[in-house]
Amino acid sequence: MGRIAVTDGMSDVAVSMLKNAGHEVVLRHHEKGEIANGSLAAFDAVVIRSATKLFAEEIMASVRVDGGIRFIGRAGVGVDNIDIEAATEHGVVVCNTPGASTRSVVEITIAHLLASTRHITTADRSLRDGQWAKKHLRGTEIGGKRLGLIGFGRIARGVSEIATAFGMEVHAYDPYVSSSDVGVTMHDDVDEVFRNCTHVSIHCNLTEETRHLVNSDRISMMPGIGADGTECGNHIVSCARGGIVDEAAAAEALRAGQLSSLALDVFEIEPLGESQLLSHNSFHGSPHIAASTSEAQARVGTEMATLLIEFFETGKPSTALN
Ligand code: MLT
Repeated sequence: MGRIAVTDGMSDVAVSMLKNAGHEVVLRHHEKGEIANGSLAAFDAVVIRSATKLFAEEIMASVRVDGGIRFIGRAGVGVDNIDIEAATEHGVVVCNTPGASTRSVVEITIAHLLASTRHITTADRSLRDGQWAKKHLRGTEIGGKRLGLIGFGRIARGVSEIATAFGMEVHAYDPYVSSSDVGVTMHDDVDEVFRNCTHVSIHCNLTEETRHLVNSDRISMMPGIGADGTECGNHIVSCARGGIVDEAAAAEALRAGQLSSLALDVFEIEPLGESQLLSHNSFHGSPHIAASTSEAQARVGTEMATLLIEFFETGKPSTALN
C-alpha cells in the first residue's frame, strides 16, 4: 500500500477514498527547502496544487534508488509547477485532473467580465466609504460586443457558450485547435483577435511563447468601440496563468485609459505583494480562486484519488501526462 504526501490540501472524501483503499495519507505542506532536502523521499506519491513546485532539483531530491516518489498528482489543471521531463527521466508518473474545475473557471471568468464592465467592486468600495456614486458608475453591456478568447479549449468553449447567451459575438485564436464551435470566428493570427475585440479573455497555458502575450502593443490594437457602436472601452480578463499578461504594461494602459478594465485571478508573482495594479479602481483582482469552489474541489479530489488507487493497483493510472 502507498504512503501519500498531500502538500496543498485535498477534499475529505478523496482522503477517505485513499484511506479506505488501504493507503496512508499525510496532509502537510512541505516548504521548498524541505523538499530540496529530501522530505518527500519518504513517500511513494505526492499530491500537490499550485503552491508546491516540483522542478528538477526537487524531483531529484524526492526519488531514491530503493524508493521515493513514483507518482506526482497535480490536483488541478496547470502543470507549469512541475518539470515533467525531469519526472519522466526519474521514472515518476505525472497526472492532473484537467476537466474537474472547468465549470468553476468558466463561471468566475464571466463573473469578472460582468464585475469589470459594471464596476461592481468599485461600487461596493464607494458604498462602504459612505458615497452614493450613482452618477459616476455608468457601465456598458457585454451584449452586442465582441469577446476574443485566446486559447479555445474546454474552459474557453464554456465561456463562449455563456457569452453567446449574453449576446456577445465570440472570436478565438488557438493554434492547437482545428475545429471551431458554431458561431465562433477563429483567427489564425492572435493580433486579429485584439484588433477586433473590445473584450478579451485568456485561456491558454503559460509557455515561453505566451509569456507577456498581452502587452502594450496588443492592448493598443484593441478598438475601444463595441461591435454595436457603443464606446465601451477595452476590457481584459485572465483566470489562466500569471505571466501571460504583462502586468506593468497593463497597469500603464489602465493609467493611460487604453484599457478600461483589467480583471486578474492569476499573477506573475503569487501571492501578489505590492503591485501598481492595486492603485487602479478599474483593476479587479482575486487571489487565484478560479478553481476554489466546493464542487470543483470535490471533483478534483475524487478524480485524483481514483488515479492514485489505479496507480497503486496496476502501476498505470488510466490517464497520465508522461
Ligand atoms: C489549476 O491549474 O488547476 C488552477 O489554477 C487551480 C490551482 O492551481 O490551484
